[in-house]
Amino acid sequence: MPPEDPGELLASVRAICAAHAAAEGRLLPILHAIQQQHGHISDAAIRAVAQELNLTRAEVFGVVSFYHDLRRTPGQRHTLKVCRAEACQAVGGRAVWAAASVGASADVAVESVFCLGNCACAPSVQLDGRTLGRVSVAQVQALLAPGGVEA
Ligand code: FES
Repeated sequence: MPPEDPGELLASVRAICAAHAAAEGRLLPILHAIQQQHGHISDAAIRAVAQELNLTRAEVFGVVSFYHDLRRTPGQRHTLKVCRAEACQAVGGRAVWAAASVGASADVAVESVFCLGNCACAPSVQLDGRTLGRVSVAQVQALLAPGGVEA
């Protein structure tokens, strides 16, 4: 990912804030949108958000640091959460986790979670917030293959 251009970042943050202007509790959706667009939330982005929302940098930083889904440094653009709780394990979740845990790529971070609330369709994973049920090892391997997330 190329380094952030300060002017482009500020314009982007302003546009994202404007798009969420009417939303109640807009800070978190704004931060998620910034991360989705820029891959992480930099110090410059925190400053820009604070300025746009008339908050202190400490207030914005506090929210960013509280939610572990929000990244402070550039990294993988996608996150695959794999459920490792009992309902999923009972129907193949262990094999799905085994495939996912060795398959993290430069583009996809793999995390374990305990229940995605999709037990009826186990085994379950969540890709960038989108829950997928009855996943197979082959599906997970395809997601983690180069370009698999975009397919
Ligand atoms: S146990 Fe996996 S989604 Fe609930």
